[in-house]
Amino acid sequence: MKKILFPTDGSKTAERAREFAVDIAKATSAEIIVLSVAPTPSTLSGFQPAVAGRFEDEMKKEMLEIAKAAKKKILDEDVKASCKVEVGAPDDKIVKLADKEKVDAIVMGTHGVTGLARVFIGSVADRVVRKASCPVILVPAKDLP
Ligand SMILES: Nc1ncnc2c1ncn2[C@@H]1O[C@H](COP(=O)(O)OP(=O)(O)OP(=O)(O)O)[C@@H](O)[C@H]1O
Ligand SMILES: [Mg+2]
Repeated sequence: MKKILFPTDGSKTAERAREFAVDIAKATSAEIIVLSVAPTPSTLSGFQPAVAGRFEDEMKKEMLEIAKAAKKKILDEDVKASCKVEVGAPDDKIVKLADKEKVDAIVMGTHGVTGLARVFIGSVADRVVRKASCPVILVPAKDLP
Protein backbone atom coordinates (compact mmCIF):
# COMPACT_ATOMS: atom_id res chain seq x y z
CA MET A 1 0.00 0.00 0.00
CA LYS A 2 1.59 3.25 -1.13
CA LYS A 3 -1.16 5.82 -1.24
CA ILE A 4 -4.48 6.09 0.56
CA LEU A 5 -7.09 8.67 -0.40
CA PHE A 6 -9.07 10.02 2.54
CA PRO A 7 -11.97 12.26 1.47
CA THR A 8 -13.43 14.32 4.29
CA ASP A 9 -16.35 16.68 4.80
CA GLY A 10 -15.25 17.28 8.39
CA SER A 11 -18.00 15.08 9.84
CA LYS A 12 -17.58 12.85 12.89
CA THR A 13 -17.84 9.76 10.75
CA ALA A 14 -15.12 11.04 8.44
CA GLU A 15 -12.96 11.68 11.52
CA ARG A 16 -13.38 8.05 12.44
CA ALA A 17 -12.45 7.04 8.91
CA ARG A 18 -9.31 9.16 9.28
CA GLU A 19 -8.27 7.15 12.34
CA PHE A 20 -8.67 3.94 10.38
CA ALA A 21 -6.77 5.37 7.40
CA VAL A 22 -3.93 6.30 9.76
CA ASP A 23 -3.87 2.75 11.16
CA ILE A 24 -3.56 1.28 7.69
CA ALA A 25 -0.97 3.86 6.66
CA LYS A 26 1.16 3.05 9.71
CA ALA A 27 0.94 -0.67 9.08
CA THR A 28 1.87 -0.37 5.41
CA SER A 29 4.08 2.75 5.40
CA ALA A 30 1.62 4.43 3.06
CA GLU A 31 1.01 8.14 2.68
CA ILE A 32 -2.42 9.75 2.94
CA ILE A 33 -3.91 12.24 0.53
CA VAL A 34 -6.69 14.28 2.14
CA LEU A 35 -9.35 15.62 -0.20
CA SER A 36 -12.22 17.95 0.65
CA VAL A 37 -14.63 18.93 -2.09
CA ALA A 38 -16.59 22.18 -2.04
CA PRO A 39 -19.88 21.26 -3.70
CA THR A 40 -21.40 23.51 -6.36
CA PRO A 41 -25.15 23.53 -5.83
CA SER A 42 -27.00 23.65 -9.14
CA THR A 43 -29.09 26.52 -7.75
CA LEU A 44 -25.99 28.73 -8.04
CA SER A 45 -26.65 28.99 -11.76
CA GLY A 46 -29.59 31.26 -10.89
CA PHE A 47 -27.25 33.87 -9.42
CA GLN A 48 -25.10 36.52 -11.00
CA PRO A 49 -21.69 35.03 -11.79
CA ALA A 50 -19.95 37.37 -9.34
CA VAL A 51 -22.24 36.30 -6.49
CA ALA A 52 -21.93 32.62 -7.35
CA GLY A 53 -18.16 33.06 -7.58
CA ARG A 54 -17.92 34.57 -4.10
CA PHE A 55 -20.06 31.79 -2.68
CA GLU A 56 -17.80 29.23 -4.31
CA ASP A 57 -14.67 30.94 -2.97
CA GLU A 58 -16.10 30.92 0.54
CA MET A 59 -17.04 27.23 0.32
CA LYS A 60 -13.59 26.44 -0.98
CA LYS A 61 -11.98 28.29 1.91
CA GLU A 62 -14.08 26.38 4.44
CA MET A 63 -13.26 23.04 2.84
CA LEU A 64 -9.57 23.92 2.76
CA GLU A 65 -9.67 24.48 6.52
CA ILE A 66 -11.26 21.06 6.96
CA ALA A 67 -8.65 19.38 4.76
CA LYS A 68 -5.77 21.21 6.45
CA ALA A 69 -6.98 20.27 9.94
CA ALA A 70 -7.20 16.61 8.92
CA LYS A 71 -3.74 16.74 7.35
CA LYS A 72 -2.30 18.19 10.55
CA LYS A 73 -3.83 15.43 12.66
CA ILE A 74 -2.35 12.82 10.34
CA LEU A 75 1.11 14.43 10.40
CA ASP A 76 0.88 14.48 14.20
CA GLU A 77 0.73 10.68 14.01
CA ASP A 78 3.97 10.63 11.99
CA VAL A 79 2.24 9.59 8.80
CA LYS A 80 3.06 11.36 5.53
CA ALA A 81 0.16 13.48 4.34
CA SER A 82 -0.83 16.07 1.77
CA CYS A 83 -4.12 17.83 1.21
CA LYS A 84 -6.17 19.12 -1.67
CA VAL A 85 -9.41 21.00 -2.27
CA GLU A 86 -11.60 20.70 -5.34
CA VAL A 87 -14.82 22.36 -6.39
CA GLY A 88 -17.54 20.23 -7.98
CA ALA A 89 -19.48 17.05 -7.38
CA PRO A 90 -17.76 15.36 -4.41
CA ASP A 91 -18.11 11.80 -5.77
CA ASP A 92 -16.69 12.71 -9.19
CA LYS A 93 -13.78 14.63 -7.73
CA ILE A 94 -12.96 11.82 -5.29
CA VAL A 95 -12.95 9.15 -8.00
CA LYS A 96 -10.97 11.37 -10.40
CA LEU A 97 -8.24 12.07 -7.87
CA ALA A 98 -8.08 8.38 -6.93
CA ASP A 99 -7.43 7.54 -10.60
CA LYS A 100 -5.00 10.40 -11.17
CA GLU A 101 -2.93 9.59 -8.09
CA LYS A 102 -3.32 5.83 -8.66
CA VAL A 103 -4.18 5.36 -5.00
CA ASP A 104 -4.33 1.84 -3.59
CA ALA A 105 -7.49 2.46 -1.59
CA ILE A 106 -10.05 5.07 -0.62
CA VAL A 107 -10.95 5.21 3.07
CA MET A 108 -14.10 7.19 3.87
CA GLY A 109 -17.12 7.23 6.16
CA THR A 110 -20.48 5.58 5.50
CA HIS A 111 -22.08 8.88 6.44
CA GLY A 112 -21.17 12.53 6.42
CA VAL A 113 -22.51 15.80 7.70
CA THR A 114 -26.09 14.87 6.83
CA GLY A 115 -25.64 11.61 8.68
CA LEU A 116 -29.13 10.18 8.24
CA ALA A 117 -28.91 6.89 10.11
CA ARG A 118 -31.97 5.60 8.26
CA VAL A 119 -30.09 5.41 4.99
CA PHE A 120 -27.61 2.54 4.76
CA ILE A 121 -24.87 4.77 3.39
CA GLY A 122 -24.77 8.41 2.24
CA SER A 123 -25.00 9.38 -1.41
CA VAL A 124 -21.34 10.35 -1.78
CA ALA A 125 -20.18 7.05 -0.28
CA ASP A 126 -22.65 5.17 -2.46
CA ARG A 127 -21.51 6.79 -5.70
CA VAL A 128 -17.82 6.44 -4.91
CA VAL A 129 -18.24 2.71 -4.24
CA ARG A 130 -19.99 2.33 -7.62
CA LYS A 131 -17.55 4.39 -9.67
CA ALA A 132 -14.13 3.79 -8.13
CA SER A 133 -11.66 1.44 -9.76
CA CYS A 134 -9.79 0.81 -6.50
CA PRO A 135 -10.94 -0.77 -3.22
CA VAL A 136 -13.14 1.49 -1.09
CA ILE A 137 -13.16 1.00 2.67
CA LEU A 138 -16.26 2.41 4.36
CA VAL A 139 -15.95 3.13 8.05
CA PRO A 140 -19.36 3.04 9.78
CA ALA A 141 -20.97 5.74 11.89
CA LYS A 142 -23.15 3.37 13.84
CA ASP A 143 -22.80 4.34 17.46
CA LEU A 144 -21.98 7.99 16.89
CA PRO A 145 -24.46 10.47 18.40
N1 LIG B 1 -17.71 17.22 0.15
C1 LIG B 1 -16.98 16.17 0.49
N2 LIG B 1 -15.63 16.19 0.31
C2 LIG B 1 -14.89 15.12 0.66
N3 LIG B 1 -15.38 13.99 1.19
C3 LIG B 1 -16.71 13.92 1.39
C4 LIG B 1 -17.57 14.99 1.05
N4 LIG B 1 -18.84 14.62 1.38
C5 LIG B 1 -18.76 13.38 1.89
N5 LIG B 1 -17.48 12.94 1.92
C6 LIG B 1 -17.00 11.63 2.38
O1 LIG B 1 -18.04 10.69 2.20
C7 LIG B 1 -18.42 10.08 3.43
C8 LIG B 1 -19.90 9.80 3.38
O2 LIG B 1 -20.64 11.02 3.32
P1 LIG B 1 -21.99 11.19 2.52
O3 LIG B 1 -22.04 12.60 2.04
O4 LIG B 1 -22.12 10.10 1.52
O5 LIG B 1 -23.12 10.95 3.65
P2 LIG B 1 -24.21 11.93 4.26
O6 LIG B 1 -23.67 13.34 4.32
O7 LIG B 1 -24.64 11.32 5.54
O8 LIG B 1 -25.42 11.83 3.24
P3 LIG B 1 -25.81 12.78 1.99
O9 LIG B 1 -24.65 13.68 1.67
O10 LIG B 1 -26.12 11.79 0.90
O11 LIG B 1 -27.00 13.53 2.44
C9 LIG B 1 -17.93 11.05 4.51
O12 LIG B 1 -17.68 10.39 5.76
C10 LIG B 1 -16.65 11.58 3.88
O13 LIG B 1 -15.61 10.64 4.07
MG1 LIG C 1 -22.93 14.38 2.64
